[in-house]
Amino acid sequence: MTLKIEEILSQAAVKIGNISETPLLDAEMILANVLKISRFDLILKRKESISVQDNTKFQNDLNRRTNFEPVAYITGEKAFFEDVFYVDRRVLIPRPETEFLVLKAIEHLKKTEKKCDVLDICCGSGCVGLSILRVMDCNLTLSDILEDALDVSRINAEKLFPEGKDIRFIKSDLFSSISEKFDVITANPPYLSKSDMEKYVTGAMAFEPAAAFYGGESGIEKTIEIIDASFDFLKPQGILILELGHEGAGYIKDLRNIKGLEIINDYSGIERVAVISPRRSEN
Ligand SMILES: C[S@@+](CC[C@H](N)C(=O)[O-])C[C@H]1O[C@@H](n2cnc3c(N)ncnc32)[C@H](O)[C@@H]1O
Repeated sequence: MTLKIEEILSQAAVKIGNISETPLLDAEMILANVLKISRFDLILKRKESISVQDNTKFQNDLNRRTNFEPVAYITGEKAFFEDVFYVDRRVLIPRPETEFLVLKAIEHLKKTEKKCDVLDICCGSGCVGLSILRVMDCNLTLSDILEDALDVSRINAEKLFPEGKDIRFIKSDLFSSISEKFDVITANPPYLSKSDMEKYVTGAMAFEPAAAFYGGESGIEKTIEIIDASFDFLKPQGILILELGHEGAGYIKDLRNIKGLEIINDYSGIERVAVISPRRSEN
């Protein structure tokens, strides 16, 4: 018996209802990916049936979701800012809250007349730096400690800029292999503590690289290392724009007397981004 798309979807939503907060949406995204059509077209075709091969592929993909694998890894893509990024298990799945970091960087770059040198450290899929480059003409460097992450960044650079762009990719433990100075450094560093890792990195998050989450015993260590080192890698008017974790703002306000620090709340009122211009106060 061949089932219609709408019946396949409602059965699928029941099947993954206990592991997902958005079971119908997940099922639609997975099926649209199998059929290589948009979710919108899938809904328009809801009265049609699909081939046995497509249904088999869909059921296999749905089983992966039943085992908690995130939809983005199953479909191999995640929408972020103005684009759709390729993702797989080598990188963190870009989070919507990180779009705020991109916005703040673009706002700053728009105020600058010259073509800026931008470094996105801890780049993962490249979503932060490449999203900036889509909007602002700049000299972009992407760096990460994992060669795997840089490989995914390269895939995204080719996908977003098929005409080719002069982007540098550097494998580096924070700044250890970086030798120049930049106008803007962006970072969404790992910021979970040891206890956060045990509490939150389960289910779907356990599929993502642990290196993308673990910021040190109390979670803030990598953030502090970046702030402390950034002084040496920023030009005189340069700024560092950092995404903060849950308690990040409190930590950095307390832990250090950081020069030129501004904490910015996102649209939900959460202290999400730190903008630091450590060298400006020297002038
Ligand atoms: C929270 S993820 C952010 C990825 C991406 N920027 C995003 O926003 O989706 C943190 C990234 O930092 C990288 N990372 C972890 N430790 C690092 C280190 N010591 N030096 C450089 N990168 C590091 C991880 O491999 C991961 O890609």
